[in-house]
Amino acid sequence: MNPKRIAVVAGDGIGKEVIPQAVHAVRATGAAVEFTEFDWSADRYLRDGTTIPPDGFAMLEREFDAALVGALGDPRVPSNIHAKEILLGMRFRMDLYANVRPVKLLDESLCPLKNTRPEDVNFTVIRENTEGIYVDVGGTFKQGTPDEIAINEDVNTRKGVERIIRYAFEYAQQNGRKRVLMADKSNVLTHAHGLWQRVFKEVAGEYPAIQPSHMYVDALCLQMVREPRQLEVIVTNNMFGDIITDLAAALQGGLGMAASGNIHPGKTSMFEPVHGSAPQLAGKNAANPIGAILTAAMMLEHLGLKQECDHIEQGVLAAVRERKLTTDAGGNLGTREVGGWIAQRIRG
Ligand code: NAD
Ligand code: IPM
Ligand code: MN
Repeated sequence: MNPKRIAVVAGDGIGKEVIPQAVHAVRATGAAVEFTEFDWSADRYLRDGTTIPPDGFAMLEREFDAALVGALGDPRVPSNIHAKEILLGMRFRMDLYANVRPVKLLDESLCPLKNTRPEDVNFTVIRENTEGIYVDVGGTFKQGTPDEIAINEDVNTRKGVERIIRYAFEYAQQNGRKRVLMADKSNVLTHAHGLWQRVFKEVAGEYPAIQPSHMYVDALCLQMVREPRQLEVIVTNNMFGDIITDLAAALQGGLGMAASGNIHPGKTSMFEPVHGSAPQLAGKNAANPIGAILTAAMMLEHLGLKQECDHIEQGVLAAVRERKLTTDAGGNLGTREVGGWIAQRIRG
């Protein structure tokens, strides 16, 4: 089998520290993969004005099986233009419509809730990733005056809503899940989320073995904290998915533990931890590399390298059980030490 070709964009801040640890973990599995690094980041943008080269997205699709991305965002670029063009650029231009964010508690000690065990927090958020209020359609009028108007449109298409809802049911079916919950604000956003309601009912009808349910997103936030064990697969729009996955990350031990994939089945997909560049942590060897390492495991599974994915997950589980962790997760090690320990464990 030809090696899988992976484009690596470590990006900014702690992305530069956690991604090398994710790469070590993959190498430790002996997986047949080839990494190619790209320096797309705030540094590059500040140096020569490049966010992503003109042919960047097409090149990724043509020459790579997947992309592994750290984080983008730097206080020296207050407009966040490079992050928008690189990260949101990949999601939109490569049409990576399903943002899959598994929420899995690995050990009771990591959960901020009382008496909560790993089997109580084990669900997946399927976030729509190419539409909604993220499309950057809108504008300002009379800017800087007392009469200023600022508009961001919330775009929901029949095609976009249908494909993400269907993805969630397919995901449930393929992963032995029995329930799919849709979260929206159809009580207020009657047009946009009325569409979500209609399409959800229609698609759910095609999957009689899976129980559909619904919550308003505010009520879901309450239930995520009060009774997370009821959740299996959640499907929601771009903005709500962003917000609830930070809350979900807290349930599994913090942003440093959370992984994600930006997927279009059959196309070059992109994998990134849920966390950002955490500028205040950067350069201190303090960031938790586990979210990035689990992200690399997700990528391997997506590429058909299930055994290698399992080895990484077992290595991470061992690190959690033996407290080989950074301080955010209750340990006393640095980024490199945690990554090094996990890689060593994977090598066996
Ligand atoms: P953030 O995720 O960077 O940090 C939020 C909090 O979580 C901070 O307290 C941080 O120290 C902590 N944290 C995050 N990752 C951690 C890790 N691996 N280990 C330990 N602690 C960790 O979010 P923010 O502060 O809102 O944003 C910082 C920058 O990152 C901004 O520019 C933002 O736009 C960007 N951002 C990028 C991505 C991405 O590239 N996918 C995601 C979120 C935010
Ligand atoms: C995420 C991030 C991004 C988002 C930002 C950095 C654009 O918060 O991946 O969760 O809002 O999607
Ligand atoms: Mn986010």
